[in-house]
Amino acid sequence: MKKLMAANWKMYKTREDAESTANGLRSLVEKNLPSDREVLVFPPFTAIDRVAAAFDGANGFATGGQDFYLHEEGAYTGEISPSMLKDAGATWGLTGHSERRHVLGEKDELVGEKTAYGLSQGMNICLCIGEKIEERKAGRVEAVIDTQLELGLKDVPRDIAPERLAVAYEPVWAIGTGEVAGPEEIVEAHTMTRKKLEDVFGEKAKEIRILYGGSVKPDNVSGIIGLDNVDGVLVGGASLTSDSFAKIVLG
Ligand code: 13P
Repeated sequence: MKKLMAANWKMYKTREDAESTANGLRSLVEKNLPSDREVLVFPPFTAIDRVAAAFDGANGFATGGQDFYLHEEGAYTGEISPSMLKDAGATWGLTGHSERRHVLGEKDELVGEKTAYGLSQGMNICLCIGEKIEERKAGRVEAVIDTQLELGLKDVPRDIAPERLAVAYEPVWAIGTGEVAGPEEIVEAHTMTRKKLEDVFGEKAKEIRILYGGSVKPDNVSGIIGLDNVDGVLVGGASLTSDSFAKIVLG
């Protein structure tokens, strides 16, 4: 199973900056990318085509959309569809990111609908899950993971090709705080995630990648990527410059 090294650029970057970061990343990484690693970048919508063009023809590089809606077209002001993302060059979609859940109010049910819909439209999907600090303090990590996966995967066909789905465990308290989760916390949450995926998908759950996200940096990635059940990372702040993200991808 290839490790998926993913960047979420959130609401950062003009098209020009995105293109130059993507070109920089390609030139730093392409020749040295181990055969068991893949690079995936989620730019803002406006820069997807530039990033996809910068990655064109590079083995193991992909581009994704940070969100999408539940229809291919229609009167949904402000929304974007999987086919529009694909038209711009994206092959992956992100669902359930903590900022969409907790800043924009997306509920587990909508996250589940988007996950199933994106897959049905031919996108690969990375579903994000993770507990808030008060949920961790209340001993509810497993309950949160179980519920978010249960509802997030509710309508996903059980025969889905496992490489088309990834789950990113991103504890909310570790996102953008510099407070990376410890190795035991990561292994515990990823083991819970794997167990739940096995309940849902059976044997093939072993081939669904589980990424860790939350304050991943060049100097902590090697300690994270080797942990049990960690099949990649999803990086915010430290993915915004090509130097820093290249170190993470190769780290
Ligand atoms: P940071 O790497 O900035 O903590 O963000 C993580 C994240 O939210 C990636 O989706």
